[in-house]
Amino acid sequence: LQGAQHYLPAGRNLAALRKAARGCQGCDLYRDATQAVFGAGPENARVMLVGEVPGDREDRAGEPFVGPAGGLLDRALEESGIDRGAVYVTNAVKHFRFTPAERGNRRIHKKPSRSQIVACKPWLLAELEVVGPEVVVCLGATAAQSLLGFDFRVSARRGELLELPGRPGGVSAALATVHPSAVLRAPDEERRRGYAELAADLRVVAKAI
Ligand code: URA
Ligand code: SF4
Repeated sequence: LQGAQHYLPAGRNLAALRKAARGCQGCDLYRDATQAVFGAGPENARVMLVGEVPGDREDRAGEPFVGPAGGLLDRALEESGIDRGAVYVTNAVKHFRFTPAERGNRRIHKKPSRSQIVACKPWLLAELEVVGPEVVVCLGATAAQSLLGFDFRVSARRGELLELPGRPGGVSAALATVHPSAVLRAPDEERRRGYAELAADLRVVAKAI
């Protein structure tokens, strides 16, 4: 359990990475999750969206952003003029993290820890290297912490086109915005504002590519 690095394949393409990620034991999250949820989308995508961690639905389906947050994200992308089919979508952490509900068998999503974010980062860097997008979009604090640093504050810097630290895989531009799940969880007034922020920030991306 010393991070994902050890599990990266020699062949650098999405199919090889996705296959290798199924066997990753780089942190403790592989134990209780159903499967690793790798990124999805074209290998030549010009935009990469990075979420936090798969949710309950994604854990079962094996695909990122197929649950309620994904629905909201689809709507915001469409409104911003970005074709979801042309975008590569992934997460900062590839295995679902949850705690069992006190009653019943619901699984409650939990934020990944700092050490889990660090452990899983080699997969994200490998995706950046293979896809080589023009812009990487961090959806929420976890993705921003992974790629922009643990001191990065989304609330202070959202919607800005930023230089991606270290230019991993030669990728130089990044933008951080609110997480679709945070928008969904917010009460009415805040939800409208969060959604408007997400859509506005995605329009910045649409203009930049
Ligand atoms: N939230 C995320 O961060 N990623 C998903 O894939 C689904 C919900
Ligand atoms: Fe490996 Fe990431 Fe899964 Fe941890 S969360 S086991 S580092 S793929």
